[in-house]
Amino acid sequence: MFNQLTETYKNKRVFLTGHTGFKGSWLLCMLNLLGAQVKGYALAPTDNVNLFNQLNGESLCESVIADIRDKDRLKKEIAAFKPDFIFHLAAQPLVRRSYEIPAETFEVNAIGTANLLDAVLALQNPCSTVIITTDKVYENKEWIYPYRENDVLGGYDPYSASKACAEIIVNSYRQSFFTVGHENVSKGLASGRAGNVIGGGDWATDRIIPDVVKALQNDEDIVVRNPASVRPWQHVVEPLTGYLLLGAKLAAQPGLFSEAYNFGPSIADTLKVEDLVKQAIDAWGSGSYKILNPGNQVHEAGLLKLDINKAADKLGWLPHLTSTEALNWTIGWYRNFKNQPAIDLSFTQIKNYWDLWQ
Ligand SMILES: NC(=O)c1ccc[n+]([C@@H]2O[C@H](COP(=O)([O-])OP(=O)(O)OC[C@H]3O[C@@H](n4cnc5c(N)ncnc54)[C@H](O)[C@@H]3O)[C@@H](O)[C@H]2O)c1
Repeated sequence: MFNQLTETYKNKRVFLTGHTGFKGSWLLCMLNLLGAQVKGYALAPTDNVNLFNQLNGESLCESVIADIRDKDRLKKEIAAFKPDFIFHLAAQPLVRRSYEIPAETFEVNAIGTANLLDAVLALQNPCSTVIITTDKVYENKEWIYPYRENDVLGGYDPYSASKACAEIIVNSYRQSFFTVGHENVSKGLASGRAGNVIGGGDWATDRIIPDVVKALQNDEDIVVRNPASVRPWQHVVEPLTGYLLLGAKLAAQPGLFSEAYNFGPSIADTLKVEDLVKQAIDAWGSGSYKILNPGNQVHEAGLLKLDINKAADKLGWLPHLTSTEALNWTIGWYRNFKNQPAIDLSFTQIKNYWDLWQ
């Protein structure tokens, strides 16, 4: 996989929004290994402890700290960089936070995406753009069937709805400006819908793995919300490799690949939250958990599975780690973090993961 991706990305200019976040920091590592020249655009990390700083992310890219809602600044930074590729990850990504700041979540996630696409339209050079949304863009029917890319978009909570809005915006721009007959036809535009990802270096509040790791490190009970929820857990390197493959295909044949793609684990490989927590305790070697009274909670989707046949068929992308392996890699990263630099841990896991594709 390393050689295949290097052919596309070596010495290419990649504009990465959300580079200071969890997934963005991992993608920054990947792009560095591939020899790309990266310009990042995001807010400064909010937490004192964060992967971007632990990686010394400033040394891995030209880092612009600015708001995606500042459309003039965004347009200026993109125009000056003339990117070959754009990966748009900047977002307000938390469901529960979206109940506290609903309008801001829509501004950042939906209008922020439109701002980015306006900047892409103004570019004079060909450019392939991958917009990162989520598996939560589908109208969740709480049924056993996996969602396909042509299923109905929806979203109960503001986060999910804002990402569904982003998908509608992408579709509108694509149809209106990026298809045959339009001057932007050489610019590929696709979206990637991935499920919950896990991996080392996620220190955010209100996410399952950081909560689990913090409790394990402090010898406290892990507090479990929604123990019966089934989520398509996946190691962060899996969808990120999917986004990179998608970018490569877009660059080669924009007309053929400018669509939405799901990236998730194999259908049979889903885990209930409670089982994930039990496996994490096993991997750590000790620990305990307690279930939070469900009465205190805002609505969050329960059952959610993705159909990944399209990514397999059109991109040649398939998951290479089971949920259990993903969890073991993740807990391993946190265990080794005391003794090894974050960048070494992440670079090693990425290389090991790409080797699995041989
Ligand atoms: N982590 C997951 O499990 C998961 C699952 C599905 C989809 N996603 C999507 O992947 C993307 C990255 O998520 P993450 O987990 O790395 O989140 P994160 O919170 O770690 O990172 C979010 C990034 O967006 C930036 N950002 C937020 N508001 C901004 C603003 N107004 N202007 C500019 N930048 C802003 C932050 O600075 C940060 O760099 C998001 O689009 C998210 O919706 C994440």
